[in-house]
Amino acid sequence: MSDQLDELVRTVRERAAAVATAADLEALRTEILGRKGGALSRVMAGLAKIPAAERAEFGRRANEAKRALEEALGAAQARIEGAALQIDLSRQYDTTFPGAAPRTGSRHVLRRTLEDVIDFFRSRGFAVVLGPEVESEYHAFEAVNIPADHPARDNMDTFYLPSGSLLRPHTSSMQVRTMLKYPPPVAVLAPGRVYRRDALDASHSFMFHQIEGLHVDRGITFAHLKGFAADLCRHLFGARRRTRFRPSYFQFTEPSAEVDVSCGVCDGAGCQTCKGSGWLEMGGSGMVHPNVLKGAGYDPEVYSGWAFGLGTDRIAMLRHNIHDVRLFFENDPGFLQQFD
Ligand code: DAH
Repeated sequence: MSDQLDELVRTVRERAAAVATAADLEALRTEILGRKGGALSRVMAGLAKIPAAERAEFGRRANEAKRALEEALGAAQARIEGAALQIDLSRQYDTTFPGAAPRTGSRHVLRRTLEDVIDFFRSRGFAVVLGPEVESEYHAFEAVNIPADHPARDNMDTFYLPSGSLLRPHTSSMQVRTMLKYPPPVAVLAPGRVYRRDALDASHSFMFHQIEGLHVDRGITFAHLKGFAADLCRHLFGARRRTRFRPSYFQFTEPSAEVDVSCGVCDGAGCQTCKGSGWLEMGGSGMVHPNVLKGAGYDPEVYSGWAFGLGTDRIAMLRHNIHDVRLFFENDPGFLQQFD
């Protein structure tokens, strides 16, 4: 019987070496090692007839033979798989061809702009606060001193939701939310998306980004606002840029001012970019209206503060000389990668 085992191993080695396909190999494996009717199990069936004294020795040899068979079949499998891979590689791939570099993502230019503003204010002790884009009429309007009959509340400007809430048309609602939540003093920056019913064109979008700033404490004056605004402009646009304040009107500030920065293209001489004025508008600002402080539970006799609202998109446009706001939202990699 041991001879039978030797013979089996010898023939299987020969046949396995000659097998060319995975299917033929599988058939051979079943023929030899199959539990029912496989060649090995047929030899093993003779075990019962072997004298008891020789059985242990036969068992050992049978195990050896099984290992040898598995080895022969395994070697054939490795050979067949290796060959398949080689054929595949040579047919489908030119392994000498240069690889494609993986594409890496980058921070959006609006995110970079915002982070730059945040860096400036963080280093001066301001905290960043975030609030809801779906806002109540109260926080968006009443609480910032915009009465019910004011044109800013007109449906033309604001998206109202069926629930009676609205998509916030400015981040100024965050002034009130902050003061209702925290006792004075507060120094915060509230960036985020805002929505208005504007038709999309090169300078308007129904969604854009604002950054609201608010600093309330004892003894805050307009001089603090001017200092911050001038420093911020220099931080964002360079040390040579000048700022100016133009009297303006906002319901939630008194006095109110529009902040302009000197045009970087013509350095104030007047050009196409600044429409001949030498100045570019940055945003609105002013001293927080006593009604707003009062509504938020701050005593206007004790506390005063400044606030501003900047357009993040506008700052990015001015810094990078971008003339169409729509480019920010189209997410064309060719456009966005310029700022990496
Ligand atoms: N909320 C104003 C707007 O969206 C911008 C603004 C003006 C914000 C003056 C302020 C401010 O905080 O003091 O047009």
